Amino acid sequence: MTKIRAAITGVAGYLPPYILNNEELSRMVDTTDEWIMTRIGIKERHILKEPGKGSSDMGAEAVKLLLAKTNTLPGDIDLLICPTVTPDHVFPATANIISHKTGITNAFSFDVNAACSGFLYALQIASQFIETGYRKKVIVVGAEKMSSITDYTDRTTCPLFGDAAAAVLLEPTTDEVGVMDAILHSDGVGLTHLHMKAGGSVKPASHDTVDAREHYIYQEGQAVFKWAVSKMADVSVEMMEKHNLTPDNLAWLVPHQANLRIIDATGNRMGLPPEKVMINIQKYGNTTSATIPLCLWELENKLHKGDNLILAAFGGGFTWGSVWLKWAYDPK
Ligand SMILES: CC(C)(COP(=O)(O)OP(=O)(O)OC[C@H]1O[C@@H](n2cnc3c(N)ncnc32)[C@H](O)[C@@H]1OP(=O)(O)O)[C@@H](O)C(=O)NCCC(=O)NCCS
Repeated sequence: MTKIRAAITGVAGYLPPYILNNEELSRMVDTTDEWIMTRIGIKERHILKEPGKGSSDMGAEAVKLLLAKTNTLPGDIDLLICPTVTPDHVFPATANIISHKTGITNAFSFDVNAACSGFLYALQIASQFIETGYRKKVIVVGAEKMSSITDYTDRTTCPLFGDAAAAVLLEPTTDEVGVMDAILHSDGVGLTHLHMKAGGSVKPASHDTVDAREHYIYQEGQAVFKWAVSKMADVSVEMMEKHNLTPDNLAWLVPHQANLRIIDATGNRMGLPPEKVMINIQKYGNTTSATIPLCLWELENKLHKGDNLILAAFGGGFTWGSVWLKWAYDPK
């Protein structure tokens, strides 16, 4: 029997217009453009400034662009998955809100919380629904208002993050393209090193938690860095070895964009020349589950049918993984 795979058949992104650059940041906290560029590699990030707007608003913009671009009617979408760590509300799911805002009325939808690996987790979940034949047109939309959980008085975290959303459409194919394999991992030891202290069931919001600034990202940077460098590289090399992928037959590494040094280390371990590693961290920073689809959106015109891509990520949880994707269409 011919194998059904899930192929990405379109990609779109949305960036809020306000740009927070290192110069402005250095007036907010004790930092410099030079420190941020050397240690992280970020020059600027987009921030959603409009009051009353959240991740779903950016997600909805990305989805509307995706539907228009792929000539897809909202009513034809039968599943929408939103990986996010910055949901509009604890409940209901941001995916439900995005579906509502975009006229997607014939789908079921849910969020996935796997932090910076969220897009890869959601891609694999979507792919399984398609491979089994249960669903035919699936949207995965990473949407993150990271500025809503970033402490702009903490110089060790505030340069890192940005806001954005990006979405892909997945459809069944019997061609030798699409999601070929995924290797996904998690280890709850990550809680110690990267979390938000309050606002969940363990420590609900109170005046004290707000006064103690506990509704922001808490990160032990060096510990996370060590884990990220080794796990993202290991899981990417594991994927290469499993499927005889080599620096020659791989077209691109599309890595999560958290720190340029982590990206470089991963590319080097895979033996890839720099021109095969997608990098846009300097413009957008770490937009968590939106980084990888944002990269695909930017790369779209350089990708050809059959190109081998490895997508790789590491994030809070800890979570990490790699996906081998064969691109499904030529530049339009
Ligand atoms: C956060 C991160 C950039 C910090 O870089 P680092 O090289 O580890 O820096 P350190 O935390 O060791 O700090 C080194 C020094 O720089 C200082 N520093 C931290 N942030 C600074 C900033 N924005 N500007 C200037 N100095 C800063 C520290 O205070 C420290 O000073 P000290 O030596 O006097 O104590 C880095 O650890 C990192 O990228 N971690 C992983 C992030 C990540 O991948 N997150 C995953 C989510 S997906």
